[in-house]
Amino acid sequence: MTAFERARQRADRFEGMMGPISIGLFEAFLELQLKSGVHGNMVEYGVYRGRSAAVALSKLRASERMMLVDAAVKYPEFVKLKSINPNFDFIEGKSEQLVDDDRLRAFLEAGVRFSHHDASHFYDNVAAEMALMEPFILPRGLMVLDDFGNPSYMQVVAACFHHLARTDCNLEVFLYANNKAYLCRKEDFEFYAGFVLEKMLPRLHAVGLNVYLSRTDNNARYRGFSIALKSKATDDDLYGLSFFGDRFYQL
Ligand SMILES: C[S@@+](CC[C@H](N)C(=O)[O-])C[C@H]1O[C@@H](n2cnc3c(N)ncnc32)[C@H](O)[C@@H]1O
Repeated sequence: MTAFERARQRADRFEGMMGPISIGLFEAFLELQLKSGVHGNMVEYGVYRGRSAAVALSKLRASERMMLVDAAVKYPEFVKLKSINPNFDFIEGKSEQLVDDDRLRAFLEAGVRFSHHDASHFYDNVAAEMALMEPFILPRGLMVLDDFGNPSYMQVVAACFHHLARTDCNLEVFLYANNKAYLCRKEDFEFYAGFVLEKMLPRLHAVGLNVYLSRTDNNARYRGFSIALKSKATDDDLYGLSFFGDRFYQL
């Protein structure tokens, strides 16, 4: 069984929204962190039953911990999550009201290599989570925003770019895929975007996900890639080659 199939099986034990492309991307990026010696804790805002947490917890080392935050303790299936990895803690509360929470702040102080933001998708909670989390994102750490680009939740995009426009912000989006934006520190763009450019399509194609890669600008203010499902099997792997050439498919 491939690592993707194992991740998918684990996720499928939990009701939730996370789709196969996101499972494949989480698995790939968390494995890349493990192989590259990126060490640190994980955080998830918005756990629900635990579908995405299950994928992340399976990539957590014994020396690391994950903090799960949800407005309602009644949702997460803690026993099932513990069977994957017991190294997690839980805080019940609304993320936007937890910015001064001593327990959460003490946890973040140790450094975060992966944060997943999948709570209520209001402007205020996304803005509050990003502002709190950014200083704790470690070198080669990742921040993932859910419902990014969902037409019904455009405030997530607004909150994200409002944060990114701050002069003291050191994060940028390197990938958009399957309703999620993937952000890293600016100095890590080449590390993650290079991995996407060189490794991600073969990896996703190998597990039957017929996706293409696109990038249609390389501007200092936005140079991220996108991955999406092809509409026809015969579509190109790289979007826009016939009119842009391959100039956007290099770093
Ligand atoms: C979309 S679900 C999370 C899905 C989950 N990550 C998965 O992969 O299945 C959203 C969750 O966020 C929680 N939530 C809603 N508003 C919140 C807030 N302001 N702070 C923290 N959690 C919140 C809800 O209770 C719900 O469990």
